[in-house]
Amino acid sequence: MAMDPRLNIIDKRLAGIKRLIAVSGGKGGIGKSLTASVLALTLSKMGYRVGLLDLDLSAPSTHVILGIEGVYPKEEKGIVPPEVQHVKFMSIVYFTGDNPAPLRGIDISNAMLELLAITRWGSLDFLIVDMPPGVGDAMMDVIRWMKSAEFLVMTTSSKVALETVKKVIKMLTELNVPIIGVIENMKMGDSRLVKEELKDMPILGEIWFDKKIEDSIGDVKKLLESDFAASIKEIVLKSSGFELQLK
Ligand SMILES: Nc1ncnc2c1ncn2[C@@H]1O[C@H](COP(=O)(O)OP(=O)(O)OP(=O)(O)O)[C@@H](O)[C@H]1O
Ligand SMILES: [Mg+2]
Repeated sequence: MAMDPRLNIIDKRLAGIKRLIAVSGGKGGIGKSLTASVLALTLSKMGYRVGLLDLDLSAPSTHVILGIEGVYPKEEKGIVPPEVQHVKFMSIVYFTGDNPAPLRGIDISNAMLELLAITRWGSLDFLIVDMPPGVGDAMMDVIRWMKSAEFLVMTTSSKVALETVKKVIKMLTELNVPIIGVIENMKMGDSRLVKEELKDMPILGEIWFDKKIEDSIGDVKKLLESDFAASIKEIVLKSSGFELQLK
C-alpha cells in the first residue's frame, strides 16, 4: 500500500484545504451524517468555502439529507464536485446510483482511495467528511490518506454509544490524530454521563433531540431554520475548534 501512486495524487488533491474535519463517533445512527451536512451548510452560510465528502460508501445518506438531485460531477482533469448551496459535494452515489455498492474490505478501501484521488476540491476553508459507522477500516484509511484530518466525535448520552466513542477517542489519541472535541447529540434529559465518561475531552456542545427534524430532511432551507441547525451554529461560534488559523 505504501507504494500506491494514488497517495501522492491525494496529497495534491487535498493541498488547497485549510481544515479537514471528519465527523465520526464509531456508533451507528447517532447523527454523524446530519451533523456533517448541517455543519457544511452552516459554515458555508457563514461565508466559508466548504466541501462535503460522504465517505459512507455502503450507505451514503448526505445527499438525502440535503435533498441533492439533478446535479452531477464534471470530468475535467479529474472530477469536479457539483455545488449545492455553495457547498462542493462529493459522494459515492455519483458512481453507484441507487444500487447498493457491493463492496467489501479492500474494495471499500480502493473505492475511497479512488474517490480521494479523482476529486478536485480546489481551495476550501473546510472539507467536512461524513464517516461511516464503525471503528475499523474507514477510520484507518482516513487517518492514513487524509493526513491533515481532525476528528469531530459525535455521541449520545447512551452508555451503549459511549462505550464505542471511548474506543474511538482512545484509538485517535494513540495515533496522535487531533480531536476537535465531542458533540452530544439527541439529548433528551439532563444526563451528565457524557461529561463524566469523557472527562479529558473538550465537550463542544449539545444538541437536543429535535422532533421536527425529520420534516426538514431533504430541504436545505428548513434544515437551516431547524433547532438542530441553531445548535450547530452555536457550537461553531463558541468553539475555537472551528477557527481557520487553528490548524
Ligand atoms: N438531534 C436529533 N434530533 C432528532 N433526530 C435526529 C437528531 N440527530 C439525528 N437525528 C436523526 O437520526 C437518524 C440518524 O441520523 P444520521 O443518519 O445522521 O446518523 P449517522 O450517525 O450518520 O448514522 P449511520 O451510522 O447509519 O451513518 C436520522 O433520521 C436523523 O435525522
Ligand atoms: Mg451516516
